[in-house]
Amino acid sequence: MKKRYDESYFLGELAQAGFSKVTIVESTTSTNDLGLSMIDDGLSVGAMVIADSQSSGRGRLGRKWYSPPGANLYMSLVLPHKVEMSDASLFMVIAGVAVCDGVNRISGHEVNLKWPNDIVMGGRKLGGILIETRTERNIVLAEVIGIGLNVNYKEEDLPPEIRGIATSLFMEGVSGVERGAIAVEIASSFAKQYSEVFEHGAGGIDVVNETGRERLIDKWREYDITIGKLITVSSAGTEFNARAIGLDIKGRLEVEREDGSREFIHSGDVTIII
Ligand code: BTN
Repeated sequence: MKKRYDESYFLGELAQAGFSKVTIVESTTSTNDLGLSMIDDGLSVGAMVIADSQSSGRGRLGRKWYSPPGANLYMSLVLPHKVEMSDASLFMVIAGVAVCDGVNRISGHEVNLKWPNDIVMGGRKLGGILIETRTERNIVLAEVIGIGLNVNYKEEDLPPEIRGIATSLFMEGVSGVERGAIAVEIASSFAKQYSEVFEHGAGGIDVVNETGRERLIDKWREYDITIGKLITVSSAGTEFNARAIGLDIKGRLEVEREDGSREFIHSGDVTIII
């Protein structure tokens, strides 16, 4: 089995970035479960949770996230930040940019984004992001940013249903990068983006800095491989083809239908046709 994580490695840089609690476990159901239970137990500082394997790793839309030991990165950033519900869509944008910045920096290779939550390399899915929150009325009280990244998977390790669709850093020619080092880069990038987009507001609620938001959206656009492509959109039980125009300031995908009409998609999935 690959070397597991050495906790001491995480302390300095992460604490500076605001993640002063680091929990590394051999196995759990899901790092997001651990993160949510920390919030329910009254967590008051930023935390990072990493597992070597997950028995019930999950993705968006109820999908399973394969999480064998020794292979890949399964991490959650746990943040007790209060924000207005209407600003919460920015977490996915921040997380996507943070993963790309972090992985690009540590591997020297380019990774990209596919709306809404896919990390893409060589045209295949390298990872994904699943955000879960605790809310009260129109306020998000705390959020768990779950990130799964395929690091050491080999083609033959891939479960049959994701073969040809998924990839890993190893499969794309990047080897010898420690999972822990990637996690620290991603967390640091997340903290940096967050501090540029949100600032402290009244009542302990973080509010959006508009300049920071615009810069963030611009960064997403640079990484996004969906823009300009002909795509199939699956949203709210329907499917249609459209041209992807780009991300708006709320993190929604603007698309143009074949009849020229435009609309914003705020949840769903897209498949690139050409
Ligand atoms: C997706 O692409 O649908 C999102 C996948 C998110 C997987 C990560 S692995 C760490 C965290 N724990 C989970 O159970 N899911 C996320």
